[in-house]
Amino acid sequence: MTKHIAVIRGDGIGPEIIEQAIRVLDRVAELYGHNFIYKDVDMGGCAIDKWGSPLPEDMLNKCIKSDSVLLGAVGGNKWNDLPADMRPEKGLLRLRAGMGVYSNNRPAKIWKQLSDASPLKKSIVDKGIDFIIVRELIGGIYFGEHKTENIDGKETAVDVLKYSEDEIARIGRIGFETARKRRKKLCSVEKSNVLDSSRLWKKVMHRLADEYPDIELTDMLVDNCAMQIVKDPSQFDVIVTENMFGDILSDEASMITGSIGMIPSSSLGDTSCGLYEPIHGSAPDIANQDIANPIGAILSAAMMLKYSFDMAIESDCIENAVSRFLDLNYRTADIMSDGMTLVGCKQCGDIILENLRKE
Ligand code: IPM
Ligand code: MG
Repeated sequence: MTKHIAVIRGDGIGPEIIEQAIRVLDRVAELYGHNFIYKDVDMGGCAIDKWGSPLPEDMLNKCIKSDSVLLGAVGGNKWNDLPADMRPEKGLLRLRAGMGVYSNNRPAKIWKQLSDASPLKKSIVDKGIDFIIVRELIGGIYFGEHKTENIDGKETAVDVLKYSEDEIARIGRIGFETARKRRKKLCSVEKSNVLDSSRLWKKVMHRLADEYPDIELTDMLVDNCAMQIVKDPSQFDVIVTENMFGDILSDEASMITGSIGMIPSSSLGDTSCGLYEPIHGSAPDIANQDIANPIGAILSAAMMLKYSFDMAIESDCIENAVSRFLDLNYRTADIMSDGMTLVGCKQCGDIILENLRKE
């Protein structure tokens, strides 16, 4: 199969981790007779430096026209003082909205080899951590009006959180469908004791529940959810939540699995053209030192094969190679522990490549 992949290396550790993901994709193509054609796209701080915009229109179009997009990370201190509209993150938000990818899927699954890396007690980890956060990605407070003005001599800032019932229903359906393919438990997370948008969220989720009688729907307030994720993560199968709550909870969820460096994500809308990115940021403090963990990016490429290209076997082949890397006791700095062999970003890629076999 031939697939056109838009590649956004981005800023910070983005280029080095994406390099390893592409080596892995190339080997998969070789093993299974596929042809992956890459098109480089500038986004984030590097695009600001080169083109004066975090995501120029023609770059967005390249992404929309591709079969899928693989992204490293964007952002860095260098661009922190730019006005909101010119920040690297704005490129990412424009890309998500421009591609219409409203459903962000972030798995929190502990690798058995890394159970010691979790900051949680062994008795909690041993009950199992395997859930998915389905985060609404192109609505809510991220996309409402933002303004800062002077009222009565005081600087005053406003961010608007708005959701329509249709926006809630389309992500709600993804939550139910995701649960249907798993353990059939869906937890809808909101703040309905305070926010109108959350009350509407809850109402729509319950309306949808009638269409999914095989799924057990529960509701949880977001503050309680943050607590339950560390108290007993084994209770969760699928969590569905709005944009900002999903942003925060997914960082927390990733951390209990050992390292944010291991977690991939997929973002999809109504077509098979998806956006695949590790959930960690650009980590400028460790960029260009060959110490970043490329596994989040490599597993994002695996998700792309599975969810956008219908290549489940090829995707499993990448996951198995990552598992063998861990079995062989190799670790990048973020997941390093006693008795393991420390490797850098490129060497991590080398070892995963050596362990990539046709399933
Ligand atoms: C994420 C990131 C982004 C977000 C930032 C970089 C805009 O934190 O993907 O979780 O908040 O969505
Ligand atoms: Mg985040």
